[in-house]
Amino acid sequence: MKKTLLFFISIMVFCSCSNSEEVVAYEAVPLTVDWPSNFPEITYNLDNNPLTDAGFELGKKLFYEGRLSSNNAIACAFCHEQAFAFTHHGHNLSHGVNGGIGLRNAQPMQNLAYQTSFMWDGAATHLDLQPIIPITSDLEMGETLGNIVTKLSTDVYYQEQFTRAFADGEINSENILKALSQFMLTMVSSNSKYDKYVRNEENMTLSSIEQDGLNTFDVKCASCHSSDLFTDQNFRNNGLSINPQLNDKGRYEIGNNPDDLYTFRVPSLRNVEVSYPFMHDGRFATLEAVLDFYDSGITDNGNVDPLLLKPDGSYGIDLSDYEKESIIAFLKTLTDHEFLEDERFSEY
Ligand code: HEC
Ligand code: HEC
Repeated sequence: MKKTLLFFISIMVFCSCSNSEEVVAYEAVPLTVDWPSNFPEITYNLDNNPLTDAGFELGKKLFYEGRLSSNNAIACAFCHEQAFAFTHHGHNLSHGVNGGIGLRNAQPMQNLAYQTSFMWDGAATHLDLQPIIPITSDLEMGETLGNIVTKLSTDVYYQEQFTRAFADGEINSENILKALSQFMLTMVSSNSKYDKYVRNEENMTLSSIEQDGLNTFDVKCASCHSSDLFTDQNFRNNGLSINPQLNDKGRYEIGNNPDDLYTFRVPSLRNVEVSYPFMHDGRFATLEAVLDFYDSGITDNGNVDPLLLKPDGSYGIDLSDYEKESIIAFLKTLTDHEFLEDERFSEY
């Protein structure tokens, strides 16, 4: 009996020895991203976190990893679903561990390399720091970075993948955050019908209603939803009525500056066809409702952006039925099916 046991133990020792001989080492294979020619320069400094194949793979695994949360079930992807431009489909307000309901609608994740701040109120100023907010929020993942390090450190896959991805090979908070950033930075959405049209690719043309919508958009919307990112990245108040239950003061919560009252980061409009519901609290289910709001629903909440002031002193953007219809047709040309279905970003 003893002999057989010894035999098995020696086999196990032998096997684990031969496993560890399979050399796992740092692999600095650069990952190149085709930054689109119709976009401005990226703002993320890649010198501090160069993109590599191994870093991207690790970041993706972490993005889909339930163990980043206290109940081991809520991954980032739980609230950021690819098919809906990485929003929390079907939820006005997101919920996480403990079923607690958050204050805000999950934002799409796309073109994050270009952003100067993150979250609706700009609470995070660097992409590497953003994930700390959902990870440690009781309403989202309810976990600590220290516990995550402990959990991942016992997993052979992570031991090897951190070795491949980082020169120091350490499973620590800094490397977890850098790997997540590497995955998020590559999420570039730039292959919509509109992009192909502006870059003169594949002989793409817009239909006449889409072109009319683009023309109206340029005059009436592009002051805030500007550039091919469709946001000027500023914090603005577009005249939404205040929801008394949430009383979300937006950017004001960050610095208590009265000028920031009820201002929110101007969102990109890429992939809006699939990222409903809309606005920071998900109050509008459809684009039709959004355009009716701009035309006749703006409320003077005390700090509405002067760009929305009409000559008669009231606030709003006058839109005819055809203008609304054509703007929506144009907005749908911003849907990037290649991005929404790109297997590089999918779990399997
Ligand atoms: C429980 C749902 C939930 C989970 C889990 C979650 N998020 Fe989010 N995410 C949100 C919501 C809601 C917002 C908008 C919050 C705000 O503005 O206050 C957001 C915003 C973001 C943004 C900002 C996007 C922008 O345009 O500024 C990024 C980046 C992001 N999340 C990444 C992550 C990562 C990485 C994880 C995993 C570590 C994660 N999220 C986990 C719900 C979630
Ligand atoms: C004064 C600046 C400004 C102008 C002009 C403006 N917007 Fe906005 N838009 C915003 C801000 C700010 C938000 C986010 C508000 C919030 O959630 O509190 C927003 C949100 C949106 C959303 C929701 C996006 C999402 O992901 O939830 C859509 C769609 C939209 N705007 C379309 C338009 C269209 C179409 C026009 C022109 C008719 C327009 N906007 C004009 C500032 C502006």
